[in-house]
Amino acid sequence: MNVQTFAQRKQQQQKISMVTCYDHWSAQILNKTDIDCLLVGDSLAVVMYGFESTVHATTDMMALHVGAVARGAPNKFIIADMPFLTCSKGVRYAMDTVQRLMQAGAHAVKVEGDAHQVDIIRHIVEAGVPVMGHLGLTPQSIHNLGGHRVQGKDEANAAKIAESARRLEDAGCFALVLECVPTRLGGCVSQALKIPTIGIGAGPHTDGQVLVLQDLLGVNPEFKPKFLRQYASGNSVIGDAVNHFHGDVVAGNFPTAAESYR
Ligand code: KIV
Repeated sequence: MNVQTFAQRKQQQQKISMVTCYDHWSAQILNKTDIDCLLVGDSLAVVMYGFESTVHATTDMMALHVGAVARGAPNKFIIADMPFLTCSKGVRYAMDTVQRLMQAGAHAVKVEGDAHQVDIIRHIVEAGVPVMGHLGLTPQSIHNLGGHRVQGKDEANAAKIAESARRLEDAGCFALVLECVPTRLGGCVSQALKIPTIGIGAGPHTDGQVLVLQDLLGVNPEFKPKFLRQYASGNSVIGDAVNHFHGDVVAGNFPTAAESYR
């Protein structure tokens, strides 16, 4: 996958799949799967570090995880999130962050936010770095949005998102994440744009879908938003294996002679 194939996929009406990936061992697994691309999302601040929001992701944190993923998944196209405020502190700051993420192994960066990011996106694209946009529920603005709510439910808000999408395409984004918007808006924006949209909670009419890896693996069984399909019972698979190990240790069944050195 590369920036050109994203566009071709849309022209050929072939859906694009993306999952988040934050670490080396899952990158090695995903490298051998059919998944189209990996997102080192700033959601790692929540999933990997237990912070309450993505506001806590830093460039140092992101660069370290991008490197771990890039070393584990050399066959995959890797997109890295620009962390909180890095696009709002001036061009120099933004470009230093882009440099860190790209040198760590990303092939593209993702920028959250609407039309006010257009100038910086254009600048990054002109510098030769592919940019993925992100509209709808933008978790870095969670305190402004008042929580994890579906966006674009009323006409005015929907029109604003549709207009921002057009502006991000004009600015040179190669793809656009649409998070938590009504199905109808997800479909309208996808139809109106030449670049592919990748939805999460945006219905079936976007040009691709993304999920957080740990969510689709069912690692946290209590986290069940409407848009999520859990493809495995990760929580019990891991819990059962560790309990099995514990039981064997306590019973003296591990290690056997075959698992020991002579
Ligand atoms: O950070 C992230 O994981 C994301 C996806 C949910 C799209 O931005």
